[in-house]
Amino acid sequence: MTDLLFATTNPGKQREIRGLLSGLPLRLLFLNDLPAVPEVEETGATFEENARLKARGYAALLPGGYVAAEDSGIVVPALGGEPGVYSARFGGRPDDLSRNELLLERMASLDGEARAAYYEAIVVLMEPGGAERLFRGRVHGFIAKVPEGERGFGYDPLFYHPSLGKTFGRASQEEKDRLSHRGEAIRALRSYLESVLKERAPDEAREENG
Ligand code: IMP
Repeated sequence: MTDLLFATTNPGKQREIRGLLSGLPLRLLFLNDLPAVPEVEETGATFEENARLKARGYAALLPGGYVAAEDSGIVVPALGGEPGVYSARFGGRPDDLSRNELLLERMASLDGEARAAYYEAIVVLMEPGGAERLFRGRVHGFIAKVPEGERGFGYDPLFYHPSLGKTFGRASQEEKDRLSHRGEAIRALRSYLESVLKERAPDEAREENG
């Protein structure tokens, strides 16, 4: 079975990615399944640049396999796009709770449409032959005034989805996957992988039969 290395160590992302890719005829690995790997620095100015940096940087770890990387975050237009690519290290705060507190502080004087926000995810796939593919997902919502719910991870207790009528912190995994930026991007990756694996399968069967 071909390997797919998904280059992340974030447990929240891993849980969602594992669920969204379940049943594919690929062995899914994450960075923590490999011996200590030097970290690729996220020096890009956009999610796309960072996803490409990570996918290219980690591609050599798995010659002959697929390597994917995802960069994601939450964007608040009224804050000039913050936290954006700095979502994981917003204000230098060390954990989700204190980053959420900082976001609420920064938005204390904002109401209504000014509380609009979106999550974005960019996934870059490096194929065994060296080709590079990009998949995107975005979900729009609002930043709640107080955290609600303990599900999900990161900014989920603050991310209110209007048609769901609750924050992602209160959503089931199925509800979040159906609507989320990561759900959209990983479903696009999944259907691409399904199509290439289907094309490859007859060749592999021929090789194995002699
Ligand atoms: P990175 O892609 O590893 O740089 O980090 C993405 C960061 O964006 C996470 O650490 C979270 O703070 C935030 N983020 C991305 N996706 C989600 C999500 O689905 N829920 C909550 N926070 C998220």
